[in-house]
Amino acid sequence: MLGVYAVLDLHCHILPNLDDGAQTMDESLEMAALAASSGVHYIFATPHCNTRDPRKNYRSAPLIAAYETLQQALDDRQIPITILSGAEVLARGDFEAHLEAEDFMTLNGSRYLLTEFYFDEAPAYMEHCLQAVEAARLVPVIAHPERYFCIQRNPGLATDWAERGRILQINKGSLLGTLGQSACLTAALLLRRAVNPVIASDAHRVNLRSPHMGPLLELLDRSFPEIDPRLVLHTLPLKIAKDETV
Ligand SMILES: [Fe+2]
Repeated sequence: MLGVYAVLDLHCHILPNLDDGAQTMDESLEMAALAASSGVHYIFATPHCNTRDPRKNYRSAPLIAAYETLQQALDDRQIPITILSGAEVLARGDFEAHLEAEDFMTLNGSRYLLTEFYFDEAPAYMEHCLQAVEAARLVPVIAHPERYFCIQRNPGLATDWAERGRILQINKGSLLGTLGQSACLTAALLLRRAVNPVIASDAHRVNLRSPHMGPLLELLDRSFPEIDPRLVLHTLPLKIAKDETV
């Protein structure tokens, strides 16, 4: 069932005690071990950034130390996972000023910025922010578009984004149906119709949007025979990690 390729998980709240993901280092290590057991080799550690939480997770020495501390703990326990840097940046508030100041951690230091919106955000504000990302010479990787109400109503908006070179990052849990029926239907549609979608766990805990990829691989095998799992879980995320054009 598991692929013979290294899975890269592009979106994971694995850094301890920086957001509503893992709360302790033990929890982070448990998540990593579970991911590794399902074929994941690389995890982009993407704490929430620029939310209303006082922990803003902008680019800083302590944040960079947090990736390194987790990597050291993984190495010490011989858990075969490589941590790549990142953040899940919420487009709100002073988003543009922080973009200009280069306060956001991109995915592994690449041109790709994992960008999320409030679920009820207006399409016009989304477009405004996506253009701001592009004006900063970055490429938006749009976190879980299938969860946004405007995309559930009009999936064509997201397929248009993809045609314009913006990357759609679909959540594993949406496809598996654990994030509601609308998200499930929209995720399936985007996976089938959008240009170059990728899938990631958006894991928060061992048992909250789990980092284990097994059920996803089974679902792709069973229900999406036209989708190459290697492309959405390895090839495209690897291009992002290497800062190559998708
Ligand atoms: Fe997330």
